[in-house]
Amino acid sequence: MNKGYKKYIPFKQINLPDRQWPNNVITKAPIWCSVDLRDGNQALIDPMNLQEKLEFFHALCDMGFKEIEIGFPSASETDYEICRELIEGGHIPDDVTIQVLVQAREHLIIKTFEAIKGAKNVIVHFYNSTSTLQRKVVFKTDMDGIIDIAVNGARLIKQLTDNYEGDTNIRFEYSPESFSGTEVDNSIAICERVMETLECTPENPIILNLPNTVEMCTPNTYADQIEYFIRNIKNRESAIISVHPHNDRGTGVASTELALLAGAERVEGTLFGNGERTGNLDIVTVGLNMYTQGVDPQLDFSDLPKYRDIYERCTNMKIGERQPYIGELVFTAFSGSHQDAINKGYKYMKEHNSEYWEVPYIPIDPADVGRQYEPIIRINSQSGKGGAAYVMEHSFGYELPKKMHPEFGALVQKKCDELGRELIPKELLDVFETNYLNHKKKYEIVNSRIYEENNEGVDYVHFKGIIQIDGKEVRTTTGVGNGPIDAFFKAMQKIGVDKYQFRSYSQHAISEGSDSKAVSYIRLKTPEGKSIYGVGIDHNVNYSSILGVLNAINRNEAE
Ligand code: KIV
Ligand code: ZN
Repeated sequence: MNKGYKKYIPFKQINLPDRQWPNNVITKAPIWCSVDLRDGNQALIDPMNLQEKLEFFHALCDMGFKEIEIGFPSASETDYEICRELIEGGHIPDDVTIQVLVQAREHLIIKTFEAIKGAKNVIVHFYNSTSTLQRKVVFKTDMDGIIDIAVNGARLIKQLTDNYEGDTNIRFEYSPESFSGTEVDNSIAICERVMETLECTPENPIILNLPNTVEMCTPNTYADQIEYFIRNIKNRESAIISVHPHNDRGTGVASTELALLAGAERVEGTLFGNGERTGNLDIVTVGLNMYTQGVDPQLDFSDLPKYRDIYERCTNMKIGERQPYIGELVFTAFSGSHQDAINKGYKYMKEHNSEYWEVPYIPIDPADVGRQYEPIIRINSQSGKGGAAYVMEHSFGYELPKKMHPEFGALVQKKCDELGRELIPKELLDVFETNYLNHKKKYEIVNSRIYEENNEGVDYVHFKGIIQIDGKEVRTTTGVGNGPIDAFFKAMQKIGVDKYQFRSYSQHAISEGSDSKAVSYIRLKTPEGKSIYGVGIDHNVNYSSILGVLNAINRNEAE
């Protein structure tokens, strides 16, 4: 037995027995701040170049972000140049605030103020690490020393802002880095000192950003920390509480959602969760989680594939197939029972004209995120018969009768087994056409006439036609019946095809461009006693049903 786990110290809970957040509900979107161009970019094997950053920046603006952290201009020449290009190139919409990150260190703060010259709205985001572990193993200093770093940084920022020449609207953000790994009373103490130094007011509030720099606890513990912080910080109304979760335990989204319940008003994260190690918080998932609860996320996700393409191209990262809302497979149901339920959900919504989304197994309408409706269901050998019928109807307009589903399902299954993989919708159509339209035809109608006659108040239908057998022999035949199918049956009996029995029939219109045709599905009982379907398609409704009969016979004769 591996006893390695014994070397880990369990995370300490904080004492908050009267926590309120479990009873709260998320009812509105937070202020979103994208850190794709800084935290996300910093974690790339090949950081984005100027062109890529510009493209990404514009995509973020299009999505609706109003606060965007564009980089660390004092730490990297490229980030400095990008900051300047954004400002001088007029790329920043008036209602968008750029955010620049800087450590609480003098020369870096000075350079940052140079980088932002000429911008309309800027958040100067400064930070220093406060965590218990870093104080012990990195800085080898006590909390007072850490507070001094933050206060000195704040003092310089205040001074540079007061003396700033120009029209830039400068706001402040402070992050006690590794907030969740810091004793929460220490985080409060340092933030209060920063606020005093910057003389924050309700009219000019600071953003206090409380990062889960390394996610080390369950989301409820992070939420307790946020609620405790908010309840105890002095001058609360002069601060906007922001969270900046990472995803080391895979619970970045949950941590964010619970932090919002605990009172956080602002969220920093990235598209699709790019970022250091396991990533930053995925804003797309949190936003769409809200959306599916009837809350407007205030970000536009309606063309998510476009943003995925930009993201993948600019970052060189790949989105996983099961990534919520955007992964290739997230709107795909393989299981037959799921397919059946999805099918029924769509049908229910259509029949009831439902204004709500009521489709089992799919928590969001794929169309709302710019995904195709069509490939919702893929067919593999595990899929039930209903799934194949669903695709035939929704992708190609063929409404196979229920009794035909097992027969068609078996043909699909056979094809999957042959190929050893799932089928895409087009291949499903091939299975249908090969088996029901392009099969071998022992009997073919060369010429025919169908007409009605009324004899002493009774309607009769006549079939007159020439039937070719095995591509050679030609026979002329006639039949009279109470409908076209009956008449045709009688005509076939006269040429010796007399052992088939009619079982059932269904028909619907199908359109091909502006053209409309009738599709008939005919079920016969064969001379061997089994059930078989035939499909007929023609502009003429009567002829389409006769073709259905003939094709059922042909399919059986071809076996
Ligand atoms: O994760 C983190 O703590 C950060 C800070 C610089 C905000 O990225
Ligand atoms: Zn971070």
